[in-house]
Amino acid sequence: MTDARLTARALTLAYEDRTVVDGLDLAVPDGEVTVIVGPNACGKSTLLRALGRLLKPVSGAVLLDGRELASLPTRRIARAVGLLPQSPVAPEAITVADLVARGRQPHQRWWQQWSEDDERAVTDALERTGTAALADRPVDELSGGQRQRVWIAMALAQETDLLLLDEPTTYLDIAHQVEVLDLVRRLNHERGRTVVAVLHDLNQAARYADHLVAMKAGHVVARGRPAEVITAGLVREVFGLESVVVPDPVTGSPLVVPGKPWAGEPSPSGV
Ligand SMILES: Nc1ncnc2c1ncn2[C@@H]1O[C@H](COP(=O)(O)OP(=O)(O)OP(=O)(O)O)[C@@H](O)[C@H]1O
Ligand SMILES: [Mg+2]
Repeated sequence: MTDARLTARALTLAYEDRTVVDGLDLAVPDGEVTVIVGPNACGKSTLLRALGRLLKPVSGAVLLDGRELASLPTRRIARAVGLLPQSPVAPEAITVADLVARGRQPHQRWWQQWSEDDERAVTDALERTGTAALADRPVDELSGGQRQRVWIAMALAQETDLLLLDEPTTYLDIAHQVEVLDLVRRLNHERGRTVVAVLHDLNQAARYADHLVAMKAGHVVARGRPAEVITAGLVREVFGLESVVVPDPVTGSPLVVPGKPWAGEPSPSGV
């Protein structure tokens, strides 16, 4: 069995009295890329927020190194786990460089506000995400895709072993999507980072995940290697969609091709 520093045990999450995630167990394999897929509103972001301690469980627990998140100091968690939420909000008029620098807060001490390590981490994060040229621009003047990459830079600057990314490719054109996913893979390979990412594109999920988790209505429906998890039956069960699953011509991973598009009702006379 693979080790897992981050685990969820019988995790139940709710907003007021509405339960969204119900008794979920999950082990995030160390040094692997875990991708969570599932339909809108099934609880993916809710789960990710709980894994990053932004949401307190109703029952059950999230454990980091065997200890309940709720019992750990915030700074200790922030140095171990970085979370990029689905719709982060930037402080008004903040520049790109200042926002990315905020990723360093968990590493700073009152007697040393800014170190060479901080400078290096921020420069590295800007370069890796292709946002160095935007450093002096206000975040609220950027395009959606530029902004998304800046948020990823902030999460990278935090330099945590565990990185939780909620839909990191939303707003990105296809080339930037591939670039961000390749970046995630590189961080995983070169620096041994453990990543949990929510993705909607099943084909990208199949290409980039070591460990795929399919959720539906607050439960884990299937998990494992993408080739084992992604089948036409699973796509039907989870998304209610008819599809054909073929090998990806480039990688051999499962490629989901949805059924025929609607093309008008056949006329009663057949002409
Ligand atoms: N802050 C909140 N207050 C109340 N209900 C919420 C809140 N955030 C999410 N929900 C509800 O919890 C359920 C799960 O939401 P969640 O954001 O986890 O879904 P998701 O799987 O991430 O969906 P998507 O693919 O659309 O991002 C939804 O029914 C949603 O309406
Ligand atoms: Mg979400």
